[in-house]
Amino acid sequence: MNQLEGKVAAITGTSAGIGRATARALVAEGMKVAGGARRGDRLKDLANELGDAFVPVEMDVRVPADGSKLVEAARSAFGRLDVLVPNAGIGVYGGIMDQTDEQISAMIDTNVAGTVWPIRSAVPGMIEAGGGDIVIIASVAGIRGAGDEAVYAASKFAQVGLAGALDRELREKGIRVSVIAPGGVATEFAMGTGRTPEMAGLEQMLRPEDVAQAVVSVLKQPPTMRSLVWSMRSIHEAD
Ligand SMILES: NC(=O)c1ccc[n+]([C@@H]2O[C@H](COP(=O)([O-])OP(=O)(O)OC[C@H]3O[C@@H](n4cnc5c(N)ncnc54)[C@H](OP(=O)(O)O)[C@@H]3O)[C@@H](O)[C@H]2O)c1
Repeated sequence: MNQLEGKVAAITGTSAGIGRATARALVAEGMKVAGGARRGDRLKDLANELGDAFVPVEMDVRVPADGSKLVEAARSAFGRLDVLVPNAGIGVYGGIMDQTDEQISAMIDTNVAGTVWPIRSAVPGMIEAGGGDIVIIASVAGIRGAGDEAVYAASKFAQVGLAGALDRELREKGIRVSVIAPGGVATEFAMGTGRTPEMAGLEQMLRPEDVAQAVVSVLKQPPTMRSLVWSMRSIHEAD
């Protein structure tokens, strides 16, 4: 039997891109998924596609109580929670003085606080159940800074730091905390504002399904090992 069969995940940002691909990949492995995002219409489309294995949750990761809403939806629909994938994120390209205060706050609130709130909602129940997996979708921008992405990079470094600290805090309680740090992925996010697919170079990027398979691989590791940071790139992208 597939070792993931029957397990339950909560994923943020399942209305698009990597989160949606991860929901599809986990359901294909026999898992059940509660998927959150703000755009309910898109979540409904995914629910129609995935059937009973997927529960859509309209939520905003910036709101602490919405982390609990997602986690509770997973537990009440499927009776348990084995996996949390904090994936929702936004990025605004441009120099630090070219961005508005609102854009900067939105990146920090979404990418940093929006990772912390669902984790705080999930951890107590995971400890009580004897363990679980938290797989944070960060970025190569959380490994090294790139020009025109200063605040985005800061928010992604924060996720990597959070994961490292949580690994120390939670490993002995049975929770594995991993980070996946992709380079460019061909999603709406990678398009950014005002770019055409050609300008963004989508053809040469990782596909969201590649990142989803990395999540599956992390979850399929033997219980005796863990991965801390998996930094992945398209074959076309320099490191
Ligand atoms: N694409 C890349 O090149 C790339 C590379 C490395 C890392 N990443 C990371 O991968 C993650 C997913 O990105 P993606 O490429 O899949 O982007 P995407 O296609 O734009 O999807 C982003 C998802 O995040 C959700 N989201 C954004 N703000 C939210 C909020 N406040 N509350 C709830 N959900 C929210 C969006 O849903 P709603 O808008 O419906 O709320 C959407 O489902 C991000 O953390 C990003 O930093 C992306």
